[in-house]
Amino acid sequence: MQIQSAEFKCSNTRTEKLPPPVLPEYAFIGRSNVGKSSLINALTAKKGLAKTSQTPGKTQLINHFLINENWYIVDLPGYGYARVSQKTREEWERFIRYYLRNRENLQCVFVLIDSRIDPQKADLDFCFWLGENGIPFVLAFTKADKQSKIKTTHAVDAFKKALLKYFEEIPPLFVTSSETKEGREEILDFIDGVNKN
Ligand code: GTP
Ligand code: MG
Repeated sequence: MQIQSAEFKCSNTRTEKLPPPVLPEYAFIGRSNVGKSSLINALTAKKGLAKTSQTPGKTQLINHFLINENWYIVDLPGYGYARVSQKTREEWERFIRYYLRNRENLQCVFVLIDSRIDPQKADLDFCFWLGENGIPFVLAFTKADKQSKIKTTHAVDAFKKALLKYFEEIPPLFVTSSETKEGREEILDFIDGVNKN
């Protein structure tokens, strides 16, 4: 799929104010600093579209980006070690989970996993929660440029193995890098396929 246009639409903390649930929507989620906003910028080939930062906890709202005027990418705050109070974190969690469970035009959730680390309980728990709630998801392993291919393969295999304790089938997965654009075409083709269905 070619990206003709990508524009920021709105930021929200309340689900009532989200755009009408008409166009297909894809949400990007994962631990703080995993590279959600960077991957969105790589996919859309627009560097400053989603705000990125070396400090975890940069994205604090539900951000909607309209792509090709007919579908949305949604950038979500990260779960995990964001430097915010326990109370704020709990509020985000509740809000995000409410959004994910109730957003009727949500086609699929991209769960981002740092390809450089061992399977994390937070990521596995989150995948399990999505499965339990019947929310379709795929996996995107990030920052693949930061290590050798073999290390990434090991990390992907370890995560798959851990997931198989919960699931009978492994969801589609993508190895990505926002630096080299690895995985970009595959993800855009995947979204195109879902949009056409
Ligand atoms: P929060 O919004 O804080 O939850 O973070 P995020 O998941 O949106 O991460 P963000 O895209 O802001 O990236 C965090 C840091 O990782 C930034 O310093 C990015 O430049 C870096 N980064 C993200 N993706 C990649 C990648 O594929 N390769 C490399 N080398 N660095 C990356
Ligand atoms: Mg972000």
